[in-house]
Amino acid sequence: MNIVKVKDYKALSEEAFSLFKSVISASSAPVIGFATGSSPVGLYELICYDYIKNGASYKDMTTFNLDEYVGLDVSSDQSYIYFMKHNLFDHIDVNPKNINIPNGIAPDIEKECKRYSALLASSSIDLQILGIGANGHIGFNEPNTPFTSTTHKVKLTDKTIQDNSRFFDDIEQVPKYAITMGITEIMNAKKILILANGKNKAKAVFDMVKGPVSESCPASILRRHPDAVLIADEDACSLL
Ligand code: GLP
Repeated sequence: MNIVKVKDYKALSEEAFSLFKSVISASSAPVIGFATGSSPVGLYELICYDYIKNGASYKDMTTFNLDEYVGLDVSSDQSYIYFMKHNLFDHIDVNPKNINIPNGIAPDIEKECKRYSALLASSSIDLQILGIGANGHIGFNEPNTPFTSTTHKVKLTDKTIQDNSRFFDDIEQVPKYAITMGITEIMNAKKILILANGKNKAKAVFDMVKGPVSESCPASILRRHPDAVLIADEDACSLL
């Protein structure tokens, strides 16, 4: 894993944008895997700026999101589709037909997982953007998820519910289940970009980079990827 240590969140976002842009520029029809959470928000602002101020076009980009809460859709401001529209998709010229994200309100969640998995199998992601959970999760692949997993429904851990409750009015409102892209599908991306900032990510970053490659830390598998880049600020790197 290639590690790029930067001073702060602003530098992390700028570094991430420059890597993102190099992938976008290299293809006439780039396929990007997007993540939600606070880590990529600065990157998304720079992409919006690129469209609005520089006139860059993203109309030929196809997107795949990592995950979605079960039970939420775009009518909830806590859903991941709402997050993506609000932070990125509504501000650029991406074709809505090219946006892919698991449907959290599908009547048959197992069937929805299979549909999303088949869609991923028929595509090839050029760049997968990832945050990392404080417990080492990627997407919503919680500790002890098999490395061989494909898109599946997960029961969120108490730690993740606790961490993500900061976005909700009340911890009781945090959904207990989610649909997530599996670890195999994440690893199939040609290039992976992991973003980590802040002291609360230091332990997860340490386990990912220096700990054993083990299902107890899902992110540790990323060390086996041939082209994975971690961009992390000084706080997130403080235990390395
Ligand atoms: C959530 C998401 C992950 C994200 C992680 C870290 O649980 N499912 O995809 O990477 O949290 O979020 P943040 O970037 O806000 O720390």
